Amino acid sequence: MQALILAGGEGTRLRPLTSMMPKPVVPLVGRPFISYMIEWLRGHGVDDVIMSCGFLAAGVRDVLGDGSALGVRLRYVEEPRPLGTGGALKFAEELLDERFFMLNGDVLTDIDLSAQLAQHERTGARGTLALIPVEDASAYGLVRRNPDLSVLEFLEKPELDQLDTDLINAGAYILERDVLEDMPPAGTIVSIEREVFPALVGRGLYGFESSGYWLDIGTPQRYLQGTFDILEGNVDTELGGLLRNAGRALADGAEVKGRLVAPTLVGPGCEIAAGAIVGGRTVLGAGVTVAEGAHVESSVVLDGARIGARTTISSSIVGAEVEIGEHCRIEGGVVLGQGVKVGPGNVLASGVRIFPGVELPEGAIKF
Ligand code: GDD
Ligand code: MG
Repeated sequence: MQALILAGGEGTRLRPLTSMMPKPVVPLVGRPFISYMIEWLRGHGVDDVIMSCGFLAAGVRDVLGDGSALGVRLRYVEEPRPLGTGGALKFAEELLDERFFMLNGDVLTDIDLSAQLAQHERTGARGTLALIPVEDASAYGLVRRNPDLSVLEFLEKPELDQLDTDLINAGAYILERDVLEDMPPAGTIVSIEREVFPALVGRGLYGFESSGYWLDIGTPQRYLQGTFDILEGNVDTELGGLLRNAGRALADGAEVKGRLVAPTLVGPGCEIAAGAIVGGRTVLGAGVTVAEGAHVESSVVLDGARIGARTTISSSIVGAEVEIGEHCRIEGGVVLGQGVKVGPGNVLASGVRIFPGVELPEGAIKF
């Protein structure tokens, strides 16, 4: 079975993590995010994956290559300019099989695609959308269904007064190729959610209500949530299995003199000094150093970052090669872009985002 993964968005809501790296390859618990998606697809019989890229496409290709490391055949389609979710589909037409999965490239999920496929066949649908209940549907595509499971209405980013169901578009579709016949020609900007699906209502579009884990990782808060859920095993992943077998604390190839608190994953080449505490719910990438007395919890620290002595980091994301001096406090959803330098004695909080390469002098910011 074939899958088309949309990975051409700019990931603006995840900046500065996505300022220099496309969202699909942003590391999530030590692996490129998209590898979780490919692992999940493979588990439902997918062996042929087409990545629809645009923004920073070369970055995706460099990391994922031809897919052999992930056990699938991987090909790339690069749009000259972003064509939208529907335009991206049409642009990939030449490579598509008669039936294929189409996925938003930013969801972490273990929903049962095989059951979705079984429903698709049972109803004779031209398109079947996976649906998932969420608490606040306003940031998503709201889907209403008829009793026969066909879609009654598709409302992208609904207004508050339109929120009378909690079932939203999970961004995982099964499509028959003939759906593309009615679409505007390749090269046109088209939104699948605002144009294609509404036009398919009453013409073979169905919804499959799925259960299981589902998260759009597109904001820093949700990226952290996805991290915690993999570490804690709330979503079904291979890495989660490895962690479980290791008592939920893994630090292969790291030098740990301080203390690890599970769940935690520490990458190779990390050095954790005496008196430092790493965890729980924390991921350190490769080659991170944590100096004496520092404490990192509920956070992600990417490759090569250096955390100064007695600095505390909580509920935050520290980019690759960041340097943080001594006695800093970083908390409450802060995101530091690649290579940021934070001088000693700074206090950063309240979701502050600092863009790549910025240098903060000693004591510059105190909340
Ligand atoms: N190739 C390509 N070209 N991909 C694109 C483009 C484009 O022009 N625009 C967006 N994408 C990709 C993004 O990279 C992402 O993987 C996916 O399409 C969805 O785009 P988002 O920008 O993340 O959309 P959203 O999260 O606001 O809403 C979508 O996802 C929700 C579920 O997470 C919609 O499909 C909603 O209906 C849905 O509920
Ligand atoms: Mg999204």
